[in-house]
Amino acid sequence: MSSGQPMLKQMMRVKNPDHIVEEGDHGGLKRSMGLFALLMFSVGSIIGTGIFVILGEAIPKAGPAVILSFVLAAVVCAFSALSYAELAGTIPVSGSSYSYAYATLGEILAWVCGWCLMLEYGVAVAAVAVGWGQYLNEFLSAFGIQIPPEFANPPGDGGVINIPAVFVVVACMFLLLRGASESATMNNIMVILKLAILAFFCIVAFTAFDGGNFQPFMPLGVAGIGAAAGQVFFSYIGFDAASTAGEEAKNPKRDLPIAIIGSLIIVTIAYLLVTIAAIGANGGQPSDYEGKSSEAVLAQIANDVTGSTWAGTLIALGAVVSIFSVVLVTMYGQTRILFAMGRDGLLPKTFTKVNPRTQTPVNNTIIVTVVISVLAALIPLGQLAEATSIGTLFAFMIVNAGVISLRRSRPNMARSFKTPFYPITPILGVLGCLYLILSLDVITWIVFFSWLAVGMVIYFTYGFRRSRLALGMVDDYTQDPEPPVVG
Ligand code: ALA
Repeated sequence: MSSGQPMLKQMMRVKNPDHIVEEGDHGGLKRSMGLFALLMFSVGSIIGTGIFVILGEAIPKAGPAVILSFVLAAVVCAFSALSYAELAGTIPVSGSSYSYAYATLGEILAWVCGWCLMLEYGVAVAAVAVGWGQYLNEFLSAFGIQIPPEFANPPGDGGVINIPAVFVVVACMFLLLRGASESATMNNIMVILKLAILAFFCIVAFTAFDGGNFQPFMPLGVAGIGAAAGQVFFSYIGFDAASTAGEEAKNPKRDLPIAIIGSLIIVTIAYLLVTIAAIGANGGQPSDYEGKSSEAVLAQIANDVTGSTWAGTLIALGAVVSIFSVVLVTMYGQTRILFAMGRDGLLPKTFTKVNPRTQTPVNNTIIVTVVISVLAALIPLGQLAEATSIGTLFAFMIVNAGVISLRRSRPNMARSFKTPFYPITPILGVLGCLYLILSLDVITWIVFFSWLAVGMVIYFTYGFRRSRLALGMVDDYTQDPEPPVVG
């Protein structure tokens, strides 16, 4: 089993990037997604709970300067998006940053990255599903229907089991089992609908726009802007989702970089417009949000502006639809990451079995559904959501470092997109993520390191010996680096 190499060397073994690309070409997944589908896929993964919930919590933290917090978080994401775009265009396979890390930084960091992605994708799905359940309740209450609290909340949060959250996860499972292209069509419709709902909010709110609401602009100073940036970062998570669809993209080398960067641009513009509209209509000072439930802040502002409840109900419906599409796309991403990890032998083979008729990984999707449903049914939203951002930021740091590593180890590999101002951009990417990580709570750090410790135990008891690299089934690229270019 073990090749007799020193342990550290084995942990640092690197997959040959050319082989990863070849494997992806023969992986059995159907190439059905064009540029528009990929772009919608990323946007679908991004716009959700963040803008509908977190905006209401972030404005009181920074005042009108929350606009700068959104810009700051977008800039940090942009550095990482450029790195994602470069690696997705070079190694267009399903495993996203996990696969990139395996081809650049070595097996142990690839495993850590994959383990972090389970927070970014799997745990995030559970969090978002819980949020979906809350919005469903909000929407239904407009018609006088109320799900009993004990069946709409987890234990410790006034309930016994969160059935709406489980319902949305299971519904998405059925869509995913039918195949990626059907899910993509469904996703396209939902994304267009949610952009329309945000546009509707902006139109309503701009009718009550008051420029005076932006004064004072920074009531809580620079510290407030930083704190709010750490919080609104969550609302950008998902721009990297297209990188999990590398093996289902028709023209991945051209389309993945455009989808990743394009989705971030679209969403940043949408978020800034919504934020400016919300502050312009409702005010931007912390006191303006006292007594407003952050869960439905956009709906409440629309109701205040129109003086009736129809606009708010429409926006609540938009939130239900938006969050559904985030659950769908994020869950899809989780299955594809596990698929890649299973194919490498770091997880059991059952994660890689593809149904020949639908060409979807069935067992994988069912296992993901069961685990996420249990989390969504029993754990409160806050605890689930807190773990998501730190795992995501950690994975982003690894991707930025991966760009630097691959440029050094494989300078001649064909790259359809190259990060501008290299190496400044990936270095700023690492530093930006570090800044946002430091703005998170200490308890989040403790949870994260405990999660990493569990991951290490699993790696050393399973993947370390069973990985295909360990078994010599694929070339360890560290043994066979790219020849240096002469001249
Ligand atoms: N960015 C995603 C959302 O806001 C996670 O729901």
